[in-house]
Amino acid sequence: ALRLSSSTSEASPLTVIPRVKAADATEASEGPVLVKGWVRTLRKQKEVAFVQINDGSNLGGIQCVVPLSEIDEDTKKELDKVSTGCAVVIEGPLVKSQGGKQAVEVTANKLKVVGECPGDTYPLAKKRHTLEYLRTIAHLRPRTNTIAAVARVRSHLAGAIHAFFQEVGFVYVQTPLITASDCEGAGELFRVTTLEMDKISDLPLKKTEDGKGTTDEIDHSQDFFGKPAYLTVSGQLGGETYASALGDIYTFGPTFRAENSQTTRHLAEFHMVEPEMAFADLDSAMGNAEQMLKYVVKHVLDKCQEDLEFFSKFYDKELIKKLEALVEQPFARVSYRDAIAYLQEEIAKDPSKWQFPDVEFGTDLSTEHERWLAETKFGSCVFVYNYPKAIKAFYMRDNDEDGGETVNAMDLLVPGVGELVGGSQREERLDVLLDKMGELKLDPEDYWWYLDLRRFGSVPHAGYGLGFERLVTYVCGIENIREAIAYPRYPGHAEF
Ligand code: 4AD
Repeated sequence: ALRLSSSTSEASPLTVIPRVKAADATEASEGPVLVKGWVRTLRKQKEVAFVQINDGSNLGGIQCVVPLSEIDEDTKKELDKVSTGCAVVIEGPLVKSQGGKQAVEVTANKLKVVGECPGDTYPLAKKRHTLEYLRTIAHLRPRTNTIAAVARVRSHLAGAIHAFFQEVGFVYVQTPLITASDCEGAGELFRVTTLEMDKISDLPLKKTEDGKGTTDEIDHSQDFFGKPAYLTVSGQLGGETYASALGDIYTFGPTFRAENSQTTRHLAEFHMVEPEMAFADLDSAMGNAEQMLKYVVKHVLDKCQEDLEFFSKFYDKELIKKLEALVEQPFARVSYRDAIAYLQEEIAKDPSKWQFPDVEFGTDLSTEHERWLAETKFGSCVFVYNYPKAIKAFYMRDNDEDGGETVNAMDLLVPGVGELVGGSQREERLDVLLDKMGELKLDPEDYWWYLDLRRFGSVPHAGYGLGFERLVTYVCGIENIREAIAYPRYPGHAEF
């Protein structure tokens, strides 16, 4: 049946005429309907004019056929104003389409231009644009096929992520964006302060104990939060506190990293999905990540067929096959030690082919290594687990079975993208955690609340973070993460 929403006619306000979205226009209607959207193309012939309208609900939009000899004078005048990009409301019945492209079209008995769009200044008047150019008009680019399709797939992915976790009984928690602790300890923090503090070019220094002189430490007591505050790099630590009460939780929100990397996989502002499970180990975290990814990719395969076909046509011919394989094939698992051995063996064959040929236990894998493992060695998504302690965060649990050199951490590597998920079992033993913090010169006073979890009913627990924009990039088969988010933030870019 047609999905209709009620709307009044412009011409006769007392008549209720249902509105139809292009995606829902699948069969002929009994009476007139309204179509509201933006004009993609206008083709005038002798007897009829064809107006292709896009309302954002699908890729192809809907064709409106204007019978020129049957329309009134007002509509004729309006038709003269129509140009690519203008906003229109069209009234008429949905009829079976004569052409083969779509099932139905609108016979446009009435047409009104709601917002004109001058062709000489409209940046999208011409049809084809590079993705790089479109980034310079990020406010208009959702009107293009590619960015609109990304937005729809992204929305479906977000919905499926919530649906998955709600179905398996996880509680959605929103953790704070402003925080005093650096979860990852990598120092990639954006400071948050008030405009007033910002004006004090020389931040006040702490006084000496006798109050007469100053120390070389900055006095943050005058700052808004009374201490230095930052935008969060991860919701994990707050997530752990809620998992320690509610069992299974997940967060899904913005995270920020002042990473100075101009790559196709990094953003300064991105979204992370972070489940955290009490009474769980690394194996449960990997199992959950695999189950969740299969669920959300299957959802998109079911719901976004038209958009995925578009992406496979223009961006990645293998896309649909790749997504189907992700749903069907079990993810591979390999220990970090074995991954290093495989890489060494491969690199030894021809070191000149590699940008980073020196790989040994303790090496932080680069994208080139990650992609080789996923794309060539395993040909599928692969979890690499048990990483060396020295290259991982303070909160990760020591691996009892590996001579004390590794932690129970994992990364999920995905063909074409590299790392999509990073997670770990958390160190639940107070004494061990305190020792680790000591080694890394982290002040336990800054983490007193986090340490309390280990004092009061501590429990083995684990979780992971999935980079949402990396997932969108992967599922759409596009190359650059800057197309996966509405307004990408990266060094030098926070325009609008
Ligand atoms: O591996 P990461 O740094 O893990 C954490 O932050 C943990 N606290 C998560 C947890 O256990 N709850 O980041 C997780 C994921 C990465 O695998 C990657 O997909 C994404 O977040 N990510 C980024 N995505 C876009 N731009 C960046 N700058 C990113 N940094 C990380």
